[in-house]
Amino acid sequence: MKTFLPQPTNTTTMQQSFLVSLLSLASICSLAHAFLNPLNFQLQQQPIATSGFKLRYSDSHNVSAETIAELFHLHKSLIAIPSVTYEEAAIAFHLKKYLVSKGLTVDLQQIEPNRYNVLAYIGSNNETRTLLTTHIDTVPPYFAPYVSPDGLKIYGRSSCDAKGSISSQVTAFLDLVQSNDLQEGDMSLLFVVGEEKGGHGMEFFNAHSNYNYESVIFGEPTENKLGVGHKGGYAGVVNVTGVASHSGYPELGVDAVKILVEFLYHLQNTQLPYNELLGNTTVNVGLIEGGVAFNVVPAHASAGLFFRVAAGLDKIPAIIDDCIAKTSGGKEHIEFINNYPSSDPMFFDFEIPGFDSIVLGYGTDAMRLTKNINRKILYGPGSILVAHGANEFIETDSLIKAVDDYKKLIKYVL
Ligand SMILES: *[C@@H]1O[C@H](CO)[C@@H](O)[C@H](O)[C@H]1NC(C)=O
Ligand SMILES: *[C@@H]1O[C@H](CO)[C@@H](O)[C@H](O)[C@H]1NC(C)=O
Ligand SMILES: *[C@@H]1O[C@H](CO)[C@@H](O)[C@H](O)[C@H]1NC(C)=O
Ligand SMILES: *[C@@H]1O[C@H](CO)[C@@H](O)[C@H](O)[C@H]1NC(C)=O
Repeated sequence: MKTFLPQPTNTTTMQQSFLVSLLSLASICSLAHAFLNPLNFQLQQQPIATSGFKLRYSDSHNVSAETIAELFHLHKSLIAIPSVTYEEAAIAFHLKKYLVSKGLTVDLQQIEPNRYNVLAYIGSNNETRTLLTTHIDTVPPYFAPYVSPDGLKIYGRSSCDAKGSISSQVTAFLDLVQSNDLQEGDMSLLFVVGEEKGGHGMEFFNAHSNYNYESVIFGEPTENKLGVGHKGGYAGVVNVTGVASHSGYPELGVDAVKILVEFLYHLQNTQLPYNELLGNTTVNVGLIEGGVAFNVVPAHASAGLFFRVAAGLDKIPAIIDDCIAKTSGGKEHIEFINNYPSSDPMFFDFEIPGFDSIVLGYGTDAMRLTKNINRKILYGPGSILVAHGANEFIETDSLIKAVDDYKKLIKYVL
């Protein structure tokens, strides 16, 4: 998930390290108990210093204990491998090895040296009807997995975003293969690099793969609900050119800051396009600069604008032109430079029986798969509110529920 909203304040480093020491101490105390429990992280192949608590979950799931154990094992092995954007090779190789060991065919799609998308499918047909996908890269900094004292939460970078999605997608897929509900040609798994920074993995896949999917299911933290949609984006710089003069004789110059301020006033007072699901389009003036000294009439001023587009992407340039026209001296002195990529708002299929829905403030790779796809669905375990934070975690129940839900969604799209 690429965050479009401000993140909640993180725990301070001191609190964090205090918590970790507490956990290590407590983990020694619970070691005896740990050895008796087959799901404990202590017993997995890669022991982790700060873990040691018994994982617990409610008994309301329609997923077998064996499948849950496999899910936790896969999830932990994925989080244990750091995969900050641009450093995704180790996780790609690990996933390939795991999926091949489960009998799938796996292609590594090379984006650039040491960066690979992972595409897995049954048999030899790589052009399947549907696709189940998420991303393997994470935001920095890396921190290793550990379990909360009550055993209900798994912490670690990417525990939620997006290795919660990867592990539950893979587990659901393999369960359906085992029960013969998935056949060759039905569905592929795609895990891409670079979603958190630039979207290179999905852009590359979009440009270099022949695909013709009826449906695509995207995994991102949605609190086990179906994402309704998310806003698109439009960005640019308003560049105002005036004429400098002595500040005691402003009539000799043209004040670029004054023109910019008036332009921004008109922009702030314009009703931007509205959509009933996503709300208003909004504009953020995130960068502003101008002038050279207190006593010089500024010859230059600029502002960086970022529109979060709920509707009417194509109307934004005309709205800007209109604000320029309303500004005194605007047409002569203002230039709007739009050399950033823009994107339309994205809508997902969210009216599926048995699922709740959620409106999201972040963008996804869904906007980068640009060929015709009948149905796009957004669903994943974990909450966006903790996804990029220093306390990123996922609840065991959310992770397990996602396996059951992905199975339902896969059956639904097929
Ligand atoms: C539980 O899973 C089985 C096998 O996948 C399925 O037949 C059954 O309908 C599910 N039960 C519920 C309550 O979802
Ligand atoms: C499937 O393989 C063919 C041949 O290598 C390739 O041209 C095509 O792009 C692949 N399709 C996908 C979806 O990767
Ligand atoms: C803004 O205009 C000035 C000339 O006044 C020019 O030097 C500058 O490169 C422009 N900025 C952008 C971002 O184009
Ligand atoms: C959209 O903007 C209008 C005008 O500023 C405002 O009255 C309305 O409450 C906004 N709607 C939402 C959903 O924020």
